[in-house]
Amino acid sequence: MTADIATQAQQETVTFTVNGKTMQGRRGDSLLKVLLHEGYDIPHLCYHEAVTAYGSCRLCLVEVKKGRKTKVTTSCNYPLMDGIEVTTNSEKIRKHRKVVFELLLAQVPNSPELQSMAAQYGVTDTRFEKKYQDCILCGLCERVCREVVGVNALGFMGRGVEKDVGAPFKQPSKTCIGCGACVYVCPVNCIKEEQLPTKRTIVRWERNLPMQTCKRCGYPFAPTYQLLQMQKQTGLPWEFFELCPDCRDVKD
Ligand code: SF4
Ligand code: SF4
Ligand code: FES
Repeated sequence: MTADIATQAQQETVTFTVNGKTMQGRRGDSLLKVLLHEGYDIPHLCYHEAVTAYGSCRLCLVEVKKGRKTKVTTSCNYPLMDGIEVTTNSEKIRKHRKVVFELLLAQVPNSPELQSMAAQYGVTDTRFEKKYQDCILCGLCERVCREVVGVNALGFMGRGVEKDVGAPFKQPSKTCIGCGACVYVCPVNCIKEEQLPTKRTIVRWERNLPMQTCKRCGYPFAPTYQLLQMQKQTGLPWEFFELCPDCRDVKD
């Protein structure tokens, strides 16, 4: 390691404490990412390490003491810095977390995923008026589609109680490639995918896509539109996309 690189690494390393235990980490990393990696039990719904933190579900609360000030804050979008003292499970945190769970349960009372997570933290009901929505507006679908898939088929629209997530103008999506990444990542499982031999439907975005069948084995392995987009991005010949991944690996 050259002297310059060693100095840079030192500058990037920060020392902090979690529940009194001294630790080291990389400056600017998501505090939640570090805490989860270290095995701390922090509930979270809108965080995924593959995408930018958004801080919307408010579940990942911790107390952070910086200098003389202590505050309760979401940890997913809190950047790791030198000298902070983090508390993960104080009475104050448990109280705040309970209210957040109750608010989420009021928004989406019928989600088994949310009910089960809330119950793990001792919350089984809500004192707030139930809205009977199915989406918690965590934005994970939108971020995954934009940042990971690179398609940008979804966005937020409206404000307040009208706020929603979906394709532009709440119309059936014209750009979704049917990859299913948003289906996979949705924490309350409200984006359904239906798969037939001839078509794949992403139900929430009303996107129906015909399937491409493998030229060799006949298996309907991916939406044709998705393969066309991949061909455009990679510049590979179309023949490459006519075979499913298994058959591509088989030498003639
Ligand atoms: S299925 Fe469609 S909306 Fe969902 S991540 Fe893939 S391209 Fe985006
Ligand atoms: S549809 Fe699912 S992933 Fe998208 S904002 Fe709603 S809860 Fe989050
Ligand atoms: S995980 Fe941090 S606010 Fe949702």
